[in-house]
This record gives sequence, structure tokens and C-alpha cells, in this order.
Amino acid sequence: MSMRVTVRGAGIIGLSVAEELLRRGHLVRVVDPAPARGASFAAAGMLSPAAEVWHGEHDVLRLGLASLALWPDLAQRLDVPLVDTGTLLVGVDAGDLQQVRRQADLLARHGVQVEEWSRRQVVEREPSLDRVAGGVWVPGEGSVNPREVCAALLERVRVEPEEPTDWRADVTVIATGSVLPEPHRHLVRGVRGEILRLRTDDPPSRTVRGWVSGEPVYLVPRRPEAAGPAEVVVGATSEEHDGLPVVTAGGVLRLLAAARVVWPALDRAELVETTARDRPGTLDGLPLIGPTERSGEWLAAGHYRHGVLLAPLTARLIAEAMDDPRSAVDAAVDPRRFTSRQPGGIHAPHAQR
Ligand code: GLY
Repeated sequence: MSMRVTVRGAGIIGLSVAEELLRRGHLVRVVDPAPARGASFAAAGMLSPAAEVWHGEHDVLRLGLASLALWPDLAQRLDVPLVDTGTLLVGVDAGDLQQVRRQADLLARHGVQVEEWSRRQVVEREPSLDRVAGGVWVPGEGSVNPREVCAALLERVRVEPEEPTDWRADVTVIATGSVLPEPHRHLVRGVRGEILRLRTDDPPSRTVRGWVSGEPVYLVPRRPEAAGPAEVVVGATSEEHDGLPVVTAGGVLRLLAAARVVWPALDRAELVETTARDRPGTLDGLPLIGPTERSGEWLAAGHYRHGVLLAPLTARLIAEAMDDPRSAVDAAVDPRRFTSRQPGGIHAPHAQR
């Protein structure tokens, strides 16, 4: 049965949900006064479920791998490039390398295939990373440019600045990132991320996630459109804070300092943009996807570090639950896990890193 759906929020999550619902024949209106200018505008676009995961994040990994598998079809449908050269975890000193190996062990325990590379193997494959002590390659991962993805979605989905007065929706999906309306506001908090965009003739050929004397940093190269400099995105700070997400001098300094140790060619790169946005963090680090306890009100929010990666899965989960009201959404992401008073309802989980 075709539903009338309002999607509030035109970031990569809201747009992906809207596009999937439109494809399935629902009537959809998307409302956002500034489409694709929130967290999606800052995001590097890593499709790195394994390289971004840590202890205790089993569900994040499970959902991320499921969504990664949906990305090739989505990228093809939207006609946007997808870089699929994997993620390279690297360490600069012995302690950093130990951190990389711990993550490799964790991934191996989860059945994720990884390959350990010596320093020599790293430099053979990525000559610009000549100061690292060694690494671990995670094949199958990649990246997209979220700005291109949002632009392609905006060609398919019309966005209006305000809720139309002549429209009554059966369901409203709230996808407003880190600022949710009441009564859901407390479920998501802003975690500031600052990120840099550079142009270079000497980019790495794959996503690099490095540890530099304990400081994490990542580099995400874009495929160059033609001969000439390529964009490399360097990220990202992570800070709990109140107030507007602004770029700080200290944040830029930390990112540049860590990135140039991993990738010395940074010194010659052109710094073209600094951006800060809030990531939408939840209490348990998992998103909120599906119906709430308020009739006709659904959430697709709280994706924290994984909004771009989880966009196609989120769209699918929402669309499947809408198409078949008897189907339950994945319990790990059910927004009612924080509010359910049902016996056996999901209890308030502990906070994660
Ligand atoms: N997924 C990368 C970040 O949130 O910085």
C-alpha cells in the first residue's frame, strides 16, 4: 500500500530514505531549509566498517558490513564513483603498530579478512607513506564522495524548505542528524568533527587510517576527475561540546601535525577547505532507525561516525518496515530500546567511547 511520507532532513540519510521510498511507490515530501549542508557536507565518505570499529561494537560492524554490501549497487544507480581499494591501517611508532595489530586481531576474531603488511610492503604499495612502521590492509572497503552522492540524490528527490500546509502524511521520518525535535532530543548529542580538504599531486591510493604517537588520523583520497591534483580529505577531530561546531585552530593544527607524519607529501598540498559539523552520537553508539512510540513518527538518526556507510541499509530497513508493518526492525537500532516500558523491552545501554 502506498503511504504518504514526510521526511524531515535532507542529509545523506533523509535523502537515501526518501529515494528508496519513492522507488517503492510511496508519496514522499522532504523538508529541509538547507539540504545536504549538515554532517553529510563534512563527511569524508569512508565505507570502512572494519577499519572504523573497536571493541564492544559488534553491532556497528555487523550493520556496517551489511550496508557496505549495498553500496556498489547504490553507487551504480546514482552514477557516482566508488573507490574500492580497501583501507590501510598504519602505525608510526611501535606503540601505534601494536594498536593496529590489536585491531587486526579483533577483526580476525570477527571473521574479517585482513592482510598484515611490513613497512617495506606498505612503501612498495603506497610510496608516499614512507614514515610508517607497518600496516594492516582491509580489502573490500572504500569510500564515496558524500557531496556527489547527495547531489545525485537531490536530482531524484525534491526538497522543500518548509512542511507543506496542503499535505497530511501517514508517517513522518525524522532524519535531522544531531538535533532532534522533542521528545527525542535527548537521544542524540553533537560530537564535533573538524575535517580538512587538500589538493595534491601525490595522494595515497586508498583510505589510510593511521595512529601517530597515539593520535588517530585518516586520509581519504578521491579519484581525480582528470589529470591534475586529487582531493584528499584529512580527518577528523572528535569532541563532545556545547555550542556551534566551529573549526578551531587547535583542531586544524592537530590534524595537520598527525597527517604530515603519516603522509609527508602533505607539506606540498594545497589546503582548500576546513569544515566542522556535529556527528549525531547516541548513548550506545548505534543509530535510531524505525518507528517510535509516537504513532506515525519514525526516526532515521543518530548515525554517529557511520552515516555515509549506513545510508543504504537505513533506507532499506525503513522501507521494509513501512512496506510490511508486521516486520520488526533490527532490535539493535530500534529507537524504542531507550524508551520501551514493555516487559523484556530494551534497557538503557551504557555509553561507549
Ligand atoms: N567516519 C569518520 C568520522 O566520523 O570521522
